Amino acid sequence: MEIVLARDPEDAAERVARVILARLERKPDLVLGLATGSTPVGVYRRLREAHARGEASFARVRTFNLDEYLDVPADHPQSYRTFMRTHLFEGIDIRPENIHFPPADGADLVRRCAEYERAIVDAGGIDVQLLGIGRNGHIGFNEPTSSLASRTRVKTLTERTLEDNARFYGPGERPPVLAVTMGIGTILSAREVLLQAMGQKKAQAVRNMVEGPVSSFFPASALQLHERVTAYVDPEAGSLLTMTAYYRRTRSLQEELRRAGRL
Ligand code: F6R
Repeated sequence: MEIVLARDPEDAAERVARVILARLERKPDLVLGLATGSTPVGVYRRLREAHARGEASFARVRTFNLDEYLDVPADHPQSYRTFMRTHLFEGIDIRPENIHFPPADGADLVRRCAEYERAIVDAGGIDVQLLGIGRNGHIGFNEPTSSLASRTRVKTLTERTLEDNARFYGPGERPPVLAVTMGIGTILSAREVLLQAMGQKKAQAVRNMVEGPVSSFFPASALQLHERVTAYVDPEAGSLLTMTAYYRRTRSLQEELRRAGRL
């Protein structure tokens, strides 16, 4: 795993956006795996801005979102479809038929989750997967004890997630207790993973993910098994890492090799 110690959250977002735009330039029909939550907001803003400046077109891009709450209507303010519309899709030229979310309503979920997996394969696989990380190490909604081989499926939300969500729902509304998420196996199948972690409250999670043992009890640690993961952390989120000098040195030597065209 490559660790990038960013100056601050804005610097992290800038770096991630630059990587995505570079990949898009090389492959206009890029397949993106997308995350929601507070973490990717700065990246999405930069992608919208690049599009507005005429520097990037998403007309051929296909997207697959990581997760969605079960039975939360698409137009609900808390649905991940609303989030993506607001933060990214409305501001770029992506075609609606190229946007994909895991099935999060109706019947036959096992079959439709398998179809979601097939749709990813049919698109040629995910080129770049964006990730945030939960304090308990979840990636997507793969909560602790998720199988490291899991694929898109229905997951039960943890107590903490339920508590966090309760405030977003009005009286009479039932906050979601289940979600549909890509599995850890799905995420590990992406060609490249860009993970961002910001703020003190993510520090222990970053430490466990990077320097802890691989364990289904800490799902993000499974990323150690992937050959192309870059984790962008701000100083607070990186504050519990023990080998920061090495990560810095690694990064600058790698960049030197890249600049010399040797990597
Ligand atoms: C979002 C997702 C989650 C978040 C994680 C961090 O689609 O799958 O795993 O990435 O909960 O959330 P934030 O970014 O709000 O701290």
